[in-house]
Amino acid sequence: MPVSDFVQHVAQGDVHVLRLNNPPVNTLRNELRAGLLAGVNAAKAAGAKAVVLIGTGRMFCAGAEMTEFGKPRQPPSLTDVFDAIEGYPGIVVAAIHGSALGGGLELALACHARVAVADAQVGLPEVKRGFVPGAGGTQRLPRMIGPEAAAKIIVSGDPIKASEANRLGFVDAIIDGDLEAGAVAWAKANIGKTFTLARNRTDRISGQDPAAFDAVVAGLLKRTRGQESPKGCAEAARASFTLPFEEGLKKERELFQSLVSGEQSKALRHIFFGEREVLRIPGMPAEAKSLPVERLVVIGGGTMGGGIAMSAANNGVPVTIVEMTDEALQKGLARCHANWERTVSSGRLSQAEYEKRRALLTGSTDFEGTVAKGDLVIEAVFENMDVKKQVFARLDKAARPGVVLASNTSTLSIDEIASATKRPELVVGMHFFSPANVMRLLENVRGAKSSWTTIATATEFGKRIGKLPVLVGNCDGFVGNRMTGKRTPQVEKLLLEGCLPQDIDKVMEGYGMAMGPLATGDLAGLDIGAAVRKARGTVAPVADAVVALGRFGQKTGKGWYMYDEKRNRLPDPEVERIILDVAEKMQVRRRKISDEEILDRLLLPMVNEGARILEEGVAYRPIDIDVVFCNGFGWPAFRGGPMFWADTQGLKTVRDKLAKYAEATGDANLKPAALIEKLAAEGGTFAGMGAKAA
Ligand code: NAI
Repeated sequence: MPVSDFVQHVAQGDVHVLRLNNPPVNTLRNELRAGLLAGVNAAKAAGAKAVVLIGTGRMFCAGAEMTEFGKPRQPPSLTDVFDAIEGYPGIVVAAIHGSALGGGLELALACHARVAVADAQVGLPEVKRGFVPGAGGTQRLPRMIGPEAAAKIIVSGDPIKASEANRLGFVDAIIDGDLEAGAVAWAKANIGKTFTLARNRTDRISGQDPAAFDAVVAGLLKRTRGQESPKGCAEAARASFTLPFEEGLKKERELFQSLVSGEQSKALRHIFFGEREVLRIPGMPAEAKSLPVERLVVIGGGTMGGGIAMSAANNGVPVTIVEMTDEALQKGLARCHANWERTVSSGRLSQAEYEKRRALLTGSTDFEGTVAKGDLVIEAVFENMDVKKQVFARLDKAARPGVVLASNTSTLSIDEIASATKRPELVVGMHFFSPANVMRLLENVRGAKSSWTTIATATEFGKRIGKLPVLVGNCDGFVGNRMTGKRTPQVEKLLLEGCLPQDIDKVMEGYGMAMGPLATGDLAGLDIGAAVRKARGTVAPVADAVVALGRFGQKTGKGWYMYDEKRNRLPDPEVERIILDVAEKMQVRRRKISDEEILDRLLLPMVNEGARILEEGVAYRPIDIDVVFCNGFGWPAFRGGPMFWADTQGLKTVRDKLAKYAEATGDANLKPAALIEKLAAEGGTFAGMGAKAA
């Protein structure tokens, strides 16, 4: 007796099962809420003593249907459903597999009891979408496990395993074997027992010391600089022990409403949906299928090759690194092993998993013999066109026909690399970011001749090894590095005109960047930028003067900053002297520069270059650019990425400011891009643009 297409109702004697059925992740859309309410009422009418809620497909429930946000809500609300559950004259048990997240977990928390498979994930990720749980999660969870433990879950938004939730006390039992059968049996065995609903419990919140709670929260908020939703989550969780239940719910609702309509939440949802959108490649024919990859071969076991190989092994893919000498090979493999061993020591990786990964990673100096066995080859040798072309000519001969050859180059032309082979249609860029075993972004670079099968293979393989692949076009620096490169001249100019490194980094970090551009330079090594300038015949008088003193950054203990023994960065008077000297020599009158000007002059050149990248079709859509920055360049997701930020400023303002700074600084790069001129004149936005098909 189905209650609706979205909820299946199966009676098993005294126990009725309601299956949430809204593939693929059972979001709580209106029809599902209505089906649940009808199902609970029907079970009640039939006299069922227990009801089991379970999800069909791969999970219990991923939460609210976010596409319904901002639209008038159709009844019933989740609260109506929860009222029916809490008023049920028997017990309602949530049976969790896969995930119970956000509204999905809140639904489970409103039940009389919860059972789960041990490795199911439970959590309240709302904070990551810029709001607070809005259906009682912040009031019920603290009543079950105490406000401090609950705040950790609510403020971080990170899910935990059901086994851990069982230990904490909000999952009543772990079920082995078939979940539905196990949950029905558990419910049967517990018919007639009294379960105190979370809303009626006070045992875990009474006597909570507000100061102890605030101290825990202060620790949690340290890592969420500039973001509003973690503060809102903490405030809501605090209400669980300072206010009665109903008033706490009201407080939670108010916080939810104000945050969900704010700019930060819009930005976070833009990135959340964007990370799914980038995988839908415009123009990709439905029949384009990825080639099967059973063994990956990585050429070069240096910084990047090692990280790429680790990503493969971390995700169960057998991988062989090819190096030129046994010494280089052993060094490369040892670095991977040491990296895993550190993770084992920190308790984040089991010994068994480590051994599994280690066995998947092998090495060889037999180039031809190894390449012949690979189903996909990723090259990560030195960044030099001649070297790359030699390697690709050799790969072309050694690899089986039909095997895709990818390059991890960060600047070189994929088309020129492909020209060294007789299979340019099978050549593609796979641009990983450092450290490659950690960073999620993967810029897949489409060559002029790359086939859809090749692109599908790079996309699917990237996903399989835990990356977020964004397809971009072939140009110097691709999307991320090309745009960041336009910021660098402004950093130099700001230093000359009046800023110190710490002034610039403070503004960028205040905006929410993981690290300011000068601190980032110190981490990466200032000699790298100097070498690029030399190769390109450009100068940067301040940066060149810093490098000339052997200040290469953290690796030499000094760069834009000096560093103490704990690697804390400290402003360095010597750097100030260098800057003042160069400015004097160049007869630049230094002035006080406002934070707003610093931010504009660093972000606007990137937006302008982003617009050119869109004009050229190097990025398909503005969202591709935003996803690149939020996943590979430390851009705070709660700001939505550079193109989203530009829209929030208004493109007319962006155009006017660019024109003003182009004039004032003589930087031709700041002349507003044609696309910005056009959109500003039309009153348009980047978000309103359609995708440019390949
Ligand atoms: P690396 O110098 O650490 O490693 C290169 C390795 O390739 C060396 O171990 C070398 O022995 C090996 N190699 C050179 N020729 C070879 C050949 N013919 N056969 C087998 N092995 C060979 O360099 P890194 O940093 O790993 O860079 C590799 C590539 O990744 C470059 O194209 C670079 O532009 C790109 N890349 C680097 C990033 C970084 O942050 N380091 C970020 C993204 C891309």
